[in-house]
Amino acid sequence: MRLLSSHLARRIAAETGTPAYVYSQNALETQADAALAFPNAFGLTVRFAMKALPNAAILRIFARKGLHFDASSGHEAWRAIRAGIAPQKISLSTQEFPSDFAALWRAGITINACSLAQLDTLGRTFPGANVGVRLNPGRGSGGTGKTNVGGPDASFGIWHEYIGEILETARRHGLKIIRIHTHIGSGSDPLVWLEASRLSLALTQHFPDVTILNLGGGYKVARVASEKGTDLQTIGMPIKAAFEKLAVETGRKLHLEIEPGTFLVANCGVLLARIQDVTDTGPAGRRFLKLDTGMTELLRPSLYGAQHPISVLPANATERTTDYVVVGHCCESGDLVSCAPGEPETLAPRQLAEVQAGDLCLIGGAGAYCSAMSSKNYNSFPEAPEVLVGADDTPHLIRRRQTLEQIVQNEILPEGY
Ligand code: LLP
Repeated sequence: MRLLSSHLARRIAAETGTPAYVYSQNALETQADAALAFPNAFGLTVRFAMKALPNAAILRIFARKGLHFDASSGHEAWRAIRAGIAPQKISLSTQEFPSDFAALWRAGITINACSLAQLDTLGRTFPGANVGVRLNPGRGSGGTGKTNVGGPDASFGIWHEYIGEILETARRHGLKIIRIHTHIGSGSDPLVWLEASRLSLALTQHFPDVTILNLGGGYKVARVASEKGTDLQTIGMPIKAAFEKLAVETGRKLHLEIEPGTFLVANCGVLLARIQDVTDTGPAGRRFLKLDTGMTELLRPSLYGAQHPISVLPANATERTTDYVVVGHCCESGDLVSCAPGEPETLAPRQLAEVQAGDLCLIGGAGAYCSAMSSKNYNSFPEAPEVLVGADDTPHLIRRRQTLEQIVQNEILPEGY
């Protein structure tokens, strides 16, 4: 799927400048429909893991499609409320319990306690409440070690062998545990996800009040041709059958929740950049494309060795191609866009049409964890704007480019400095 025509790319570059993130409303809605079709036996809630792309316009597109939201910090929950999302549609699962959790709770959000201490705090503040708990089911899987959040090496959720402690904490405060939540990693192996989901389903037997099982996100998408995405129908069918089996055996009809981030947005966005220089290290060396973007807008290659498709739009159309190493604009050799898979430091040239400084470059797969997870303001580059291409192909600016004034606005010069 080509997200952006060269005509529209040129128009947005002229009107908004580069670098700029560009998202497609049609693509976002298509992904929402696919997630809403996740196989389920007794009802489904799809939560958008908003950490992937928290811009208000995106949240509102998904809310209109009927999606709910997963927030990963108190700030994120407030951000969603500020964007007009009904608090009842927001669920919080967080590593850092917000100090103002009571205000969020009173506003109407629901919470999954992600540690025994969080559960105790909730219980002391709201005795008798209905709560969820995030469990670490003992298995984890991620596209890289950095995105695996299950198993004995992960600090996320309450270890599955501490059921007794969970039940005791709940009893002490009269808490009713109505939801179990698990999320084992991003880009997870579908088979491990299935196994962890089965383990999670089995764990519900210890919690008689549980009516909802949230199986998290982590569904793979293929950003480049060599990657394989997870088919939600294929992965969901066995789980649907397991929910049905549980109902036959115990009479319990559990509601299913999933909370994808990547699946919903990754391939709905591109990063539009300009080639600002072309250099080389001699006849036996490398040819470099230097972009006006890099780890400031796209951290995933430097962090994970992530692969993003790169294409160029030469002003003078040409048949000639060259192997280019594509690099970012930060003063670090680690600001490498064309790295080898899983190897952030290994240069992996891409064969691209021959280009010159001033030509445009499109980096795909930039909807998830790009704008949301930037190394913002490094080298004092301003935060890039975001553009939403509406269903009728009209581009709408949904975030302005930051100014120098905004970059430094919170600095304070003590007297005499
Ligand atoms: N639910 C919870 C509790 C999570 O922690 C996450 C992601 C998700 C859902 C959504 O996972 P997804 O469907 O997007 O894989 N920054 C990384 C991924 C780490 C995300 C952490 N949590 C990336 O760039 O791929």
